Amino acid sequence: MHLTRKILKNLYYVGVDDRRTTLFENIHPMQNGISYNSYLLIDEKTVLFDTVDWSVCRQFIDNICHVLKENSRSKIDYLVINHMEPDHAGSIGQIIQKFPHVKIISNKKAFGFMQQCGFDIDSKQIIVEDKEEFLVGKHKLVFSMAPMVHWPEAMVTFDQETGVLFSSDAFGVFGALNGRVFADEWNIEKDWLDEARRYYANIVGKFGLPVTNLLKKIEAFDVKMVLPLHGPVFKSDIPFIFDKYKIWASYEPEENGVLIAYGSMYGNTETAANMIAMQLVDNGVKNVSLRDVSTTHVSHLIADSFKYSHIILAGATYNAGIYPPMLDFLHDMKALALQNRTFAIVENGTWATTTGKQMKAIVAEMKNMTILEKELSIKSNLVKSDKNQMNEFVKQIINSLNDK
Ligand code: FEO
Repeated sequence: MHLTRKILKNLYYVGVDDRRTTLFENIHPMQNGISYNSYLLIDEKTVLFDTVDWSVCRQFIDNICHVLKENSRSKIDYLVINHMEPDHAGSIGQIIQKFPHVKIISNKKAFGFMQQCGFDIDSKQIIVEDKEEFLVGKHKLVFSMAPMVHWPEAMVTFDQETGVLFSSDAFGVFGALNGRVFADEWNIEKDWLDEARRYYANIVGKFGLPVTNLLKKIEAFDVKMVLPLHGPVFKSDIPFIFDKYKIWASYEPEENGVLIAYGSMYGNTETAANMIAMQLVDNGVKNVSLRDVSTTHVSHLIADSFKYSHIILAGATYNAGIYPPMLDFLHDMKALALQNRTFAIVENGTWATTTGKQMKAIVAEMKNMTILEKELSIKSNLVKSDKNQMNEFVKQIINSLNDK
C-alpha cells in the first residue's frame, strides 16, 4: 500500500515516517519519530532525490512503484544523492536492485563513500561539480556543494523550473510527519521550532561556518519551496526558517534568557537552582529554563544552550571533580563549538568544593565565552548566611541580561 503525497505537478513525496527507531544516530531521543524524506520527479526522465533508511525501505519501494504506475512509467532514470548518511542513503542498494539501469548523480566524494559502503555503482556514476546543471526534460537541476552540512560530501539541488530546493539535512527536524507533509499543516512555532533547534544544534551545530556559507549560496537561487530530508516542506515559512538558521549558524543567542543546568546528588544543589530561578522570575526575567542534567538528555541541554544568552552551571562536586552528567554536557557543548554565551557558576561540596574552578576551566577553553565574576559557592546546603551571596549572584545575572 502506498503512502505518497503530491508536492507539485509531477513532483511527489515518497518518503517514510519511522516511529520504531527510538534514538537518532543511536544517541538522540526521538519521542515523536522521524521522517526520512525522498521525492520523485516525473519529467521526460524520472528522477528520485535521495533514498531512506534501510529499515523503512519496503514502504519506500511501494511508494515509488505507485507513483511510477500512476504516471505510466516503469523505471527510475536518475537517482540524485545529496547526502550519504545511511538514514538517507541506506536504500541505494535496493534501488539499484529494483531499477538496474538507474544512473546515480552525485559528487566525487559521495561516490567514494558509496564505494566504501559496497554499493555496485561503477557503471552508474554521473559525477557533478559545484554549480553544474543537468537537464532531465523541462526541469533543469543545478547542484551546489554544501560540505559539512552535515558531512563533507553533502550537496543541495535546485530545480530552476519550479524554484524547489532539495536542501539535504538543512532545515530538517525530529518528528514524524504524521501525514502533514507541508509546513503550513504544522504550527511551526509550536510543533517545529523546539525540535528543529534540537536537530540543528546537535546534528550540524558544530558546522556554523559551512551552514552560513550554504545560506549565502542559496541566496543566489530564487527559492520558492524547500524540501529537506527530514520534516515538512516549506513554502510561506521560508523567511522564518532561513532567519532561524542564520542565528543558529552564527552562534548568536536566539533569546535573551537563562538556562539553569543543575547537577544535584541529594537535592541541595537543586534547591539553590530553584531559588535562582525563582529570584530571576520574581525580578521579571521571563525566559528561564531549569534543567536537571541527570534526567534531561544532553541533546535538550544543547538545544537550550543554543537558544539562550546566559547559562548557569550549578554543580555538585563529585570525586573532587565535575559531576559526571555535567561534565558530559560541557564536553558536548565544547564539541559542538558553542560560542558567545555568558556563564555564571554555582558550586556545591561538603569537604572539597572544587567543581566551580573546573567547570570554569572548560568554559574558558571555548570561544567568546564570558564568565560572570561572582560565583555562588555552597557548603552542602544553602543556609541563611548565604543570602547576601545569593542576592549578589542573581543581581549580576539580571544586570548582564539588561546589558544585552
Ligand atoms: Fe539526516 Fe546527516 O543525515
